[in-house]
Amino acid sequence: MAKIIYNRKECIGAASCAAVCPEFWVMNEDGKADLIGGKEISDGIFEREISDEEKTQAQKSVIACNKEAAESCPVNVIKIEE
Ligand code: F3S
Repeated sequence: MAKIIYNRKECIGAASCAAVCPEFWVMNEDGKADLIGGKEISDGIFEREISDEEKTQAQKSVIACNKEAAESCPVNVIKIEE
């Protein structure tokens, strides 16, 4: 089980996450990214768990995709826990 943690409050709308990993990241009308399937665990902090099944399903690894998103973010508000 892996986990994506996203601090939406600090997002500056760079949009590179949505460009490199559109299966998980989408730009919202308010100019910030939304983590698809993420749930808010505390004020502005979103989390989404990735099951082992999900990890192996995708052709481009779900983890790789989200790591790319995390690395592309200029303010480092996306974290991946494995
Ligand atoms: Fe926001 Fe970083 Fe994406 S600033 S729009 S989470 S690349």
